[in-house]
Amino acid sequence: MRYQKPIVFFLCLLPFIVLLYQAMTGQLGADIGKELVLGSGIWALRFLLFTLMVTPLRQLLNLSSLLRYRRMLGLYTWFYASVHMLFVLTYLLGWSAAIFVEEFAERPYMAVGIIAWLMLVPLGLTSNRWSQRKLKHRWKSLHQSIYVIAILVCAHFIWLVRSDYGEVLFYCVLFALVLLYRLKAYFSQKQSSVATN
Ligand code: HEM
Repeated sequence: MRYQKPIVFFLCLLPFIVLLYQAMTGQLGADIGKELVLGSGIWALRFLLFTLMVTPLRQLLNLSSLLRYRRMLGLYTWFYASVHMLFVLTYLLGWSAAIFVEEFAERPYMAVGIIAWLMLVPLGLTSNRWSQRKLKHRWKSLHQSIYVIAILVCAHFIWLVRSDYGEVLFYCVLFALVLLYRLKAYFSQKQSSVATN
């Protein structure tokens, strides 16, 4: 369908619009800054999961059309992670370099989150056909770092949780399933290439 991509694009942007709308209409309670940090963080995590689920769902359910949306989902992961970081810098750290250094050193989840975000930068910048052509096989290796990012994001989430372990468990199990699926595919591919050599 002609309008499928713009519709998916709008649906991906919707959580951000809703979050801003809730903030502007006073629906986020007294600590708006904290709610914006949490809301954007959970959506960054969800989009990372959606991106990683494209390949298994495509292969298991024979949904080849899903591949068309993988780049968009990946870029939305970067978008929500960047918005999340901007909210942290604005509402929790007040753009103070001293507080930033202190938090970075004292809170490991903060350092892990920043490393995950930094690792997303080259993926976002090379998510285009031109980079794919220029980098050739290195493009695939670079984009495989998404699995390391997923592990860092899980560590970030596990580390900062104080009460609701159910939600953390739910997402970490989904991430684990996706990673196991990819590992299995990787090893069976290796095995078959050894067998043919
Ligand atoms: C790929 C990047 C990132 C993802 C996917 C991510 C994800 C998350 C998630 C899921 C939460 C918890 C939301 C909830 O409990 O509902 C969260 C909270 C948080 N994240 Fe991140 N994050 C990322 C990067 C960062 C970065 C770069 C920073 C620091 C600059 C950061 C700092 C925080 C802080 C301070 C909290 C809230 C902790 C609290 O409860 O006070 N995150 N993040």
